[in-house]
Amino acid sequence: MCGIVAYLGPKEAFPVLIKGLHRLEYRGYDSAGVALLNNNRELKVYKTKGKVSELEKFVSGKNLTGHVGIAHTRWATHGEPNSRNAHPHYSNDKKLAIIHNGIIENYAVLRKALMDLGYHFESDTDTEVLINLIDNIQKNEAVSLEEAVRIALNQVTGAYAIAVLSADNPDMLIVARKGSPMVIGVGENEFFVASDATPLIEYTKQVIYMEEEHVAVLQLGKEIKLTTIKNQIKTPYIEALEMDLSQLEKEGFDHFMLKEIYEQPRSIKDSMRGRLNAEKGIVSLGGIKDYEQKIVNARRILIIACGTSWHAGLVGEYLLEDLARIPVEVEYASEFRYRKPIIYEDDVVIAISQSGETADTLAAIQLAKEKGATILGICNVVGSSIARETHAGSYTHAGPEIGVASTKAFTAQVTVLALLALRMAQIKGTIPTSRWMQLLHELENIPAKVEKTLNNKEIILEISEKFKNVSNFLYLGRGYNFPVALEGALKLKEISYIHAEGYPAAEMKHGPIALIDKNMPVVFVAPANGIYDKVVSNIQEVKARNGHVIAIVTEGDTVIRNQVDYAIEIPATEAMFTPLLASIPLQKLAYHMAVLRGCNVDQPRNLAKSVTVE
Ligand code: G6P
Repeated sequence: MCGIVAYLGPKEAFPVLIKGLHRLEYRGYDSAGVALLNNNRELKVYKTKGKVSELEKFVSGKNLTGHVGIAHTRWATHGEPNSRNAHPHYSNDKKLAIIHNGIIENYAVLRKALMDLGYHFESDTDTEVLINLIDNIQKNEAVSLEEAVRIALNQVTGAYAIAVLSADNPDMLIVARKGSPMVIGVGENEFFVASDATPLIEYTKQVIYMEEEHVAVLQLGKEIKLTTIKNQIKTPYIEALEMDLSQLEKEGFDHFMLKEIYEQPRSIKDSMRGRLNAEKGIVSLGGIKDYEQKIVNARRILIIACGTSWHAGLVGEYLLEDLARIPVEVEYASEFRYRKPIIYEDDVVIAISQSGETADTLAAIQLAKEKGATILGICNVVGSSIARETHAGSYTHAGPEIGVASTKAFTAQVTVLALLALRMAQIKGTIPTSRWMQLLHELENIPAKVEKTLNNKEIILEISEKFKNVSNFLYLGRGYNFPVALEGALKLKEISYIHAEGYPAAEMKHGPIALIDKNMPVVFVAPANGIYDKVVSNIQEVKARNGHVIAIVTEGDTVIRNQVDYAIEIPATEAMFTPLLASIPLQKLAYHMAVLRGCNVDQPRNLAKSVTVE
């Protein structure tokens, strides 16, 4: 949530910053701003409500010179999203400017104390409090800016990734993080800073992922100075970035979400690459190799996640229990962290997160760690906080996901969970080898089947046209496809703003059936395996009440096709792998509905891709 970007070096800062903001806009987009320090040491702040494109219009004709600057795209936490509350924020004397991602929880007390000292505030934000706190410390304690930042950060509670710019220190940027992500890009006598690596990639592949409570002083012509907020000296660890610019472009698609949906044959393959070889009977997840015995001997596995990742976790529960016979519980991270959960030392916790930055998931990990459990991560973003906070883990390797609604990350998470379950089944010997080999071969065939699943544009467009004006949708599935129904409903809600509920199909008669009438479309995820006959009965119950039925069916299915209004085919596969196929038409349905309703698909209202606040 909130994207921050900063530059210090020989280039004009503004173009680097604005391009960076566009790349980070998925993190928040209710207001945007930039601060530039020009050669006359004038610190200019320009900010406005709305998207980064609004900021570009707003600054046109203004003095945008300067080789150092900071910029921000916001997802409001404190104060409504308007220009006043947009970042950067000045100190009262306008000598300092700050951008901030996170929440300062004790800001009200600090604000009051600063007001008593004569400070005034132009915004309702916690961030303006922080910059004036730094200013006050610098002046009153006669310390350097760097020291003032450290002292201030010791006084705040909450989360922050900040960059501070000072008119009196024109060749310097001070950055720090706790709980919110931050990456420094190191170029030839120039520095880039951002919430993630995407704004840096076209300039440098040398990056430093900032650690918790670290402060970095970036100065032209000098080595990076890295300390903790307690002023312990640290050595910067520079890593090579493995990301390629084309992954960040739309490549001819109208939206990132559509591109990402169509990338799935490749992204699923990438999730399996080097991990699955059906011919040789090999499944291995290198990152967790040393923890295999812990998993096998675990009292139980606790999966913690939020949103779409939680849905992937539910599929994981079914897979791990089905194949490896290990008890699994799936928890919303936000509930887990606050409900005094029972955690044993022989529990294995698997945290699933696309971004690797979700605040609730991070906090849940911390809690489980304190109780002595083993923590594994399944993350997409390399170097992310969750990837670093866990004992071990597996990256999903889906490539950058820019669309706010998660698509390819979900199928990549399910793929990694399937690999994990198959590996555990192998070690435990819970299924016969011949059956296990059959499953390996089938999983290897999935990317080709996903490719076929994408050939259904006409029927999905027709369905979208027909139902684009309804207010409610119901999604039903059983077994492995219950989580798919939840995920299908979430996708529709997120991007088309149509109310949608996912339910286990059999639960329909315990409540949701009351909603069914001639206006209600019901999506059944009904591939021909598992509890097919029971789903057919559920479909009849909806038809008997004049509901409209859209069914996801297996290729060649005639039984359901003859009973429903619309059928979307997916290739036949094992029940346990159907989520990898059945979720895709539901992603496309949500996409086309949203486009037809004129919604902003990649940046839906009120949402952010990386939820770094609780
Ligand atoms: C946000 C995003 C969702 C995502 C959820 C969990 O709500 O909009 O798409 O599923 O966070 O994010 P994570 O990065 O932890 O998977």
